[in-house]
Amino acid sequence: MALPHLLNVIGLMFLCRTTLIYSSSLSSPPFGLKLGSSLSVEKKEDFLISPNGFYTAGFYRVGENAYCFSIWLTKALSDGNLTLVWMANRDLPVNGKFSKLSLLKTGNLVLRDAYQRFPIWRTTTRDSTKSAQLKMNDSGNLCLQNKLGKVLWQSFDSPTDTLLPNQPLTKDAPLVSSRSLTNYSSGYYKLFFDSDNVVRLVYSDPKLTGIYWPSPDVRAWESGRNIYGSRRIATMDSSGRFISTDDLLFNTSDAGDQPLRRLTLDVDGNFRAYSLDEITRIWHVTWQALSNTCYIHGCCGENSTCSNDPVYGRKCSCLPNHRMINHTDWSYGCEPEFKPTLCGNGEDQFLHVPHFDFYGYDRRYMPNTTLEECKQVCRNMCDCKGFQFKNDWKKGFSICYPKFLLVNGLSSSDFNGSMYLKVPKDIPLSSKNIKIGEEFSLKCSWKPAIQLDRSYDINRQNESIQFLMLIITSVLGALEIICVTYFCYGIHLHSTTQGNYLQTASGFRRFSYAELKKASGNFSNEIGRGGGGVVFKGVLSDNRIAAIKHLNESSKRQGEAELLAEITTIGKLNHMNLIEMWGYCAEGKHRLLVYEYMEYGSLAHNLYSTQLDWDKRFDIALGTARGLAYLHEECLEWILHCDVKPHNILLDCRYKPKVADFGLSKLLDRDGTGNSEFTRAIGTRGYMAPEWLFVNFPITAKVDVYSYGVVMLEMITGRSPTGANQSGGSEGRLDSWVREKMIATSGPDGWVEEIIDSIIEGEYDKKRMEILIKVALQCCEDDKDARPTMSQVVDMLMHVEEHH
Ligand SMILES: *[C@@H]1O[C@H](CO)[C@@H](O)[C@H](O)[C@H]1NC(C)=O
Ligand SMILES: *[C@@H]1O[C@H](CO)[C@@H](O)[C@H](O)[C@H]1NC(C)=O
Ligand SMILES: *[C@@H]1O[C@H](CO)[C@@H](O)[C@H](O)[C@H]1NC(C)=O
Ligand SMILES: *[C@@H]1O[C@H](CO)[C@@H](O)[C@H](O)[C@H]1NC(C)=O
Ligand SMILES: *[C@@H]1O[C@H](CO)[C@@H](O)[C@H](O)[C@H]1NC(C)=O
Ligand SMILES: *[C@@H]1O[C@H](CO)[C@@H](O)[C@H](O)[C@H]1NC(C)=O
Ligand SMILES: *[C@@H]1O[C@H](CO)[C@@H](O)[C@H](O)[C@H]1NC(C)=O
Ligand SMILES: *[C@@H]1O[C@H](CO)[C@@H](O)[C@H](O)[C@H]1NC(C)=O
Ligand SMILES: *[C@@H]1O[C@H](CO)[C@@H](O)[C@H](O)[C@H]1NC(C)=O
Ligand SMILES: *[C@@H]1O[C@H](CO)[C@@H](O)[C@H](O)[C@H]1NC(C)=O
Ligand SMILES: *[C@@H]1O[C@H](CO)[C@@H](O)[C@H](O)[C@H]1NC(C)=O
Ligand SMILES: *[C@@H]1O[C@H](CO)[C@@H](O)[C@H](O)[C@H]1NC(C)=O
Repeated sequence: MALPHLLNVIGLMFLCRTTLIYSSSLSSPPFGLKLGSSLSVEKKEDFLISPNGFYTAGFYRVGENAYCFSIWLTKALSDGNLTLVWMANRDLPVNGKFSKLSLLKTGNLVLRDAYQRFPIWRTTTRDSTKSAQLKMNDSGNLCLQNKLGKVLWQSFDSPTDTLLPNQPLTKDAPLVSSRSLTNYSSGYYKLFFDSDNVVRLVYSDPKLTGIYWPSPDVRAWESGRNIYGSRRIATMDSSGRFISTDDLLFNTSDAGDQPLRRLTLDVDGNFRAYSLDEITRIWHVTWQALSNTCYIHGCCGENSTCSNDPVYGRKCSCLPNHRMINHTDWSYGCEPEFKPTLCGNGEDQFLHVPHFDFYGYDRRYMPNTTLEECKQVCRNMCDCKGFQFKNDWKKGFSICYPKFLLVNGLSSSDFNGSMYLKVPKDIPLSSKNIKIGEEFSLKCSWKPAIQLDRSYDINRQNESIQFLMLIITSVLGALEIICVTYFCYGIHLHSTTQGNYLQTASGFRRFSYAELKKASGNFSNEIGRGGGGVVFKGVLSDNRIAAIKHLNESSKRQGEAELLAEITTIGKLNHMNLIEMWGYCAEGKHRLLVYEYMEYGSLAHNLYSTQLDWDKRFDIALGTARGLAYLHEECLEWILHCDVKPHNILLDCRYKPKVADFGLSKLLDRDGTGNSEFTRAIGTRGYMAPEWLFVNFPITAKVDVYSYGVVMLEMITGRSPTGANQSGGSEGRLDSWVREKMIATSGPDGWVEEIIDSIIEGEYDKKRMEILIKVALQCCEDDKDARPTMSQVVDMLMHVEEHH
């Protein structure tokens, strides 16, 4: 069961993020992908998210059963689309089943496709410190970093088609466009540092290649570029200022601080800067390399021309007397409707098309040539398809360019030159007969997207054995789950009336509001009231008794998906000292959580009860420590509770403790102001660690250790850390009071007796009590590093137990 467990744990990262963003935007929370763990394509919740929540890294579906490990902006755009900013395996998507991104123990990050023996993609990194972690940085950089702070690998070093603010374009890492809006694999456009140190855009398909920006007609320095910037590096900062070593400098039209910007080499071959309007959630172009997109090569194909269209952007048209070859795709170009003459009969005529240009593919360059001379040259040249003829007014003569390929066509009234197309002599050239070629205002899309279907190749021997193993493992795992579930809920499974609702594996499910209303008798039996809402007792349709928490309606509104994302992970946590969540309800304005019901309510409720003898109290101390240790350590320190107090420790029918309310800090909006940025101090006064009060102190798992210590002291002394009635201790703190008593009471046995709550009857084990008090005091140290971890607390308490 190691795998499902691991996946659960990874899912918690999201949870932790939500907990931590709202608890502290300053701390660097201990989450990320650790050595030896992996992200699975099958788990929706398997992703990494940046501490500020802007960026997410995970598997992105690029086609039917085809996934790429990608980075995208967490929040969707207004049309529901995600903005992808990076991909690991854009050209080799992986299967939607069994594929994984794993951080190996050696420090190598590898992406494996379901049944392939060799990784699809890897970083080939090594980590000798055995401490590397993969983390999504706030800036959108996915970093593999070890404890010495060394960056072993980062996504910023290998961009795909997008640069984020402060991500450099370097000589080793060009940008390559996507194939189309729906096909993310490498396309034909590239932004790169050329060998002369200049940043250029090039189009390069299997047949043709050509630079189109800066204009190839002029020298680099005429375009304002500097060819001596041999460092070859360019970046845009978050204020929209772009700086390149070749002196390409610009400010975006919305210069000013705005972290959500990007530079993308778009599918159409233009290089653009975008800013996200956070309110409308639409990207706006704030700069572009070419304003006339017809200068971009490779769009309209052979024998066609491009013109700027005010409505559609650009438009492709066939040359006169030509027709489109494939009506769905301009890149096929146009073919002549006439039969081209065989080479060299010397009788061809020329069709004059003014304001036309075809860039490149000249057979010759002939200055100071007359039109007649030029026609003659082209007639006698076997592969001449026509020629361009233009006046150079400065030099006072005309230039002739015979062409052997008619591509990169451009039609623009600004252009004074003309094309003369070679046509057979039997085609009438009177203007009435010139058929304007077909025109389509198409986007220059590439071949329409076909759905990628990654098939499983399980016939091969080796793989099939692996597959068999997987099946066996899965079946065993499933059996185990079923057994456990049956064991726990067996009785209820029989009595349930709505079997289709029950999810056998976890029991976690969605409830309807009506159902919960009915279960709780119209919310009549209130059993508690906390910062986040009111708790009611109810009986579910399967006869389980539940605690139903109705989250305060005035607190933050959340969509169901958001709520679900946060609580499904909580719902999956399973530890005997953690409260179990059975489900939730999100309907209209109602947000409810359904928990297992705890007979004896909270520890706060029972603190002064004589029912809680010292043995039970000691069990509560140990159980609570175990629950918290599980949250902190088993979950790889990804969940902080942040509000440990007697009200959140619940007692079952045998007074065994279960920790409640973890991972809900965001959900509950504890400060009640609705302003989540303000929510640094989310705990409860009296139980809050000192570092909450200092803005610059990182918030770590040690805040829970502190609160735990306070709770233990409260449980032992019977004194409340929150009340104003502190009998004169320094700073009014419970731990200071205990310490003072310890010092003040001389004599070998005296102090324990002085400290403990006198209303609790019965015997106690002195050794155990001493250890418990000492551990509690240690937990209350001001210096977080002096406090033990929760698992150390468990060890210390267990140790006494053994000697007992
Ligand atoms: C964005 O979403 C719309 C539908 O909401 C879809 O038609 C369009 O193709 C999407 N764009 C991209 C780039 O995926
Ligand atoms: C992570 O992001 C922070 C802030 O954006 C930046 O200062 C830091 O250098 C980044 N670390 C890496 C390794 O990119
Ligand atoms: C961009 O703006 C900064 C100041 O905000 C200015 O110093 C710089 O010259 C500008 N760059 C360009 C290319 O206009
Ligand atoms: C373009 O036209 C020329 C004749 O002018 C022809 O030889 C060539 O095959 C055409 N290109 C395509 C793709 O049909
Ligand atoms: C162009 O050619 C003519 C004769 O062929 C010559 O007289 C004239 O000087 C040439 N002009 C230039 C600018 O070379
Ligand atoms: C085109 O020719 C006209 C005069 O015929 C001239 O005024 C204009 O500047 C020329 N345009 C270019 C781009 O050379
Ligand atoms: C046009 O292109 C599409 C996609 O590449 C292809 O499926 C189709 O067969 C082509 N049609 C013709 C007439 O060549
Ligand atoms: C995307 O384009 C690549 C390269 O042309 C092609 O091999 C692949 O099949 C395309 N994928 C989809 C989903 O169309
Ligand atoms: C199976 O694995 C062996 C070695 O592990 C290898 O030599 C063989 O080519 C593999 N067979 C297939 C079909 O991949
Ligand atoms: C709950 O309220 C409804 C009407 O709002 C009523 O019909 C029903 O009897 C009530 N149920 C209980 C258990 O009070
Ligand atoms: C719900 O929120 C409102 C306003 O923030 C507050 O007055 C009320 O006491 C809250 N209710 C509970 C049960 O916390
Ligand atoms: C404060 O505690 C003392 C005993 O230490 C008690 O006598 C007194 O009544 C308490 N005062 C309040 C307001 O609870």
